[in-house]
Amino acid sequence: MIECKNITKVYKNGNTETIVLKGISFKINDGEFVAIMGPSGSGKSTLMHILGALDSPTKGEYFFNNKDVSSMTDNDLADIRRDKIGFVFQSYNLLPRTTVLRNVELPLMYAGVPAKEREERARASLISAGLSEDRWKHLSNQLSGGQMQRVAIARALVNNPSVILADEPTGNLDTKTGEIVLDTFQRLNKEYSRTIVLITHERYVAEHANRIIHILDGEIIEDEKNIKSRVVNYSE
Ligand SMILES: Nc1ncnc2c1ncn2[C@@H]1O[C@H](COP(=O)(O)OP(=O)(O)OP(=O)(O)O)[C@@H](O)[C@H]1O
Ligand SMILES: [Mg+2]
Repeated sequence: MIECKNITKVYKNGNTETIVLKGISFKINDGEFVAIMGPSGSGKSTLMHILGALDSPTKGEYFFNNKDVSSMTDNDLADIRRDKIGFVFQSYNLLPRTTVLRNVELPLMYAGVPAKEREERARASLISAGLSEDRWKHLSNQLSGGQMQRVAIARALVNNPSVILADEPTGNLDTKTGEIVLDTFQRLNKEYSRTIVLITHERYVAEHANRIIHILDGEIIEDEKNIKSRVVNYSE
């Protein structure tokens, strides 16, 4: 469903050119849980922006559900982002002083979904993301980091996207809270067959996926398949 063919990304600032991605090729099938792992500055976020149709490659081709995204117009890219991709970021990006339910409903408001259906879908997403119902009427800034990240995951799910892209989703969390979030991704993958791409610089985090694509200085140096993924056991 995701296929990158020889993707290159070059940033130009005045006369200096920085080659950030140097010919990246890989495929991700529906239902996979893949980690993209590499040190700071290796090009992970740049790659995620391309995968998420937030940016275009300088050279190479990117196919999403067999469509060539690298040649799409900005409008088509915006449609793909809204309908097909769920984003989760390190910093949660929730609206403060707004309830959990409203935060999750937000993408559906932009999509023009009627109020009753919005709330039903937001509730279903919050259940999938594992946030207990006694928190749903709280304001988002009254939650713990792990709870906020689960709201962000619910929001990413609410449009029923083809893939969830998560860039360092545990970066702001302590180890235990990070595990709860990683467990959430594992459950979404196993129980709901969600395709997940998780970006991280930490081996320990990457090992929660089933496959680890290693990136260094803008190149794939290893593609580890059939990872025996770390199982999280937590109780709240
Ligand atoms: N707009 C830009 N213009 C020029 N260089 C850029 C731009 N954006 C990113 N870079 C450079 O591209 C390289 C890769 O950046 P990127 O954000 O993809 O790394 P990363 O792997 O996500 O790092 P981190 O783990 O720190 O988030 C860095 O050297 C960065 O300085
Ligand atoms: Mg980054």
